[in-house]
Amino acid sequence: MRTPIIAGNWKMFKTPQQAAEFARALIPELEPLAGAERVVCPPFIDIPAVHDALAGTSIKVGAQNVHEALQGAYTSSISAPMLQGLVEYVIVGHSEVRQYLGEKNETINKKVKVLLDHHLKPIIAVGESLAQNQAGETDTIVSGQTLAALTDVPVEALATLVIAYEPIWAIGTGLACPSDQANAIVGGIRKTLAGRYGDEAAQTVRIQYGGSVKPDNMHDYMSQPEIDGALVGGASLKVDDFVTLTRIAIEAKGV
Ligand code: 13P
Repeated sequence: MRTPIIAGNWKMFKTPQQAAEFARALIPELEPLAGAERVVCPPFIDIPAVHDALAGTSIKVGAQNVHEALQGAYTSSISAPMLQGLVEYVIVGHSEVRQYLGEKNETINKKVKVLLDHHLKPIIAVGESLAQNQAGETDTIVSGQTLAALTDVPVEALATLVIAYEPIWAIGTGLACPSDQANAIVGGIRKTLAGRYGDEAAQTVRIQYGGSVKPDNMHDYMSQPEIDGALVGGASLKVDDFVTLTRIAIEAKGV
């Protein structure tokens, strides 16, 4: 049984003060919903405030990116040792980072390895563009991104890392991927993992869906057997919505 994981990617929203207030407002509602893992991923500058606000609760903090080097002349970047003690999860490979910051599969693989070395858990985002989707290339693209991100990553890591299938065309557009299609694609990712690591290990990996997840479509995703949670942008910025998404996951998965 895979524990569902609902992660909120706040992207570039909320000042440190707003982030801390929001985190405090989440606690009474989210703390009792322990059947699912709940993670919030604020902007870097907000992380210490959110970490402090959530200290002593079961709500976890994640970062939205990391640099692959441990330190050095990399203006504007944040390294894994800097995040240690503040976050448990780190998103890598988000399509916005791939697109706007030119992040490549090879770099994502380095980031995954540096995170695992520092006992931080990667949430590896993969997903195809609209053109790739329309050309019928989705499975090839997402399995290629998954295998590239996991080059030289040992099988033991599969128990801690998370994969997020986020079709680019579904992010922030309201055009959510139909849940049965998302389930089939996530199942394909699991099959790809089974090909490299064996079926038993592949069955332990949690794979989320992301892209226009809202309270009104969450049940469809969570009732799909391959989908283990959601990576949520817009709807994670509202306390009520994030709590509702978590409740729906717990109910649908029976945890
Ligand atoms: P939306 O939920 O706003 O579509 O964003 C999804 C996303 O990019 C999460 O990482």
